[in-house]
Amino acid sequence: MKQMIRKLFLADGGSYALSTCMSARSGSGKTTLLTRLISEARKDEAFKETRFIYVSIKRESLFPKVKPSTNLNDLFKHLRKNPIGVYYPLEPQFYEDDIDELIDSIFTLSDSNPDSSFVIVIDDANILKGFDNRGIPSQQVKKLAVAGRSKRIRGLFITHRLGNLPRLMNGNMSAVILMSISSMDIDYSKKIFGVDFEPLSNELFDYKWAVVDLIEEKTYRFNPVKPV
Ligand SMILES: Nc1ncnc2c1ncn2[C@@H]1O[C@H](COP(=O)(O)OP(=O)(O)O)[C@@H](O)[C@H]1O
Ligand SMILES: [Mg+2]
Repeated sequence: MKQMIRKLFLADGGSYALSTCMSARSGSGKTTLLTRLISEARKDEAFKETRFIYVSIKRESLFPKVKPSTNLNDLFKHLRKNPIGVYYPLEPQFYEDDIDELIDSIFTLSDSNPDSSFVIVIDDANILKGFDNRGIPSQQVKKLAVAGRSKRIRGLFITHRLGNLPRLMNGNMSAVILMSISSMDIDYSKKIFGVDFEPLSNELFDYKWAVVDLIEEKTYRFNPVKPV
């Protein structure tokens, strides 16, 4: 598990360090799994200089000790001293703008902190405009997915369906984390990734999960995590 967490989250600019996505039905345990994975990463020396930014549009954070910030100034102040920051964008009409500003600010921060790296998790990203396989995400989301690696920044986009990911991202990810997937996604992934997830999807019940490594083209299966 430790090696897998490094593969998923270490933003060291290496060939693996592209963005990732986690797609599974609502209620399948995505937020719980993500919270456990980041909590485990924090115990690993390799993540000493990594800042984790968890954006929850639904305002559901499961990090027990982190007080969520509702504006970006507070978030960045918090991140000076704390490795995990939680951000709740408040106004639906500004969700996209707020997240764009967050991404730009992290890129600026990465320039002035060459020893730090950053993981930006956007939970329930399917709520955002452009999160659709025919959609066009904002310039900043594009930048995060395409140009984050060289700046030691990784994005993790959590969505209900694989089909919620803008097409341009499909070729720019190192891995997909799956839990219980919808049957529509089985057809979709055959077309888009050329992989048949049907056998795997039959195994992913009761909070079991899998990582599809898109670089090595290998699948790794895991038992449910313990909620944090
Ligand atoms: N690994 C797990 N073990 C036990 N209960 C879990 C686990 N993962 C999720 N749950 C329970 O399932 C419910 C939905 O989980 P959540 O992580 O919010 O799902 P999602 O983010 O996919 O909608 C929660 O009430 C949570 O307590
Ligand atoms: Mg969730």
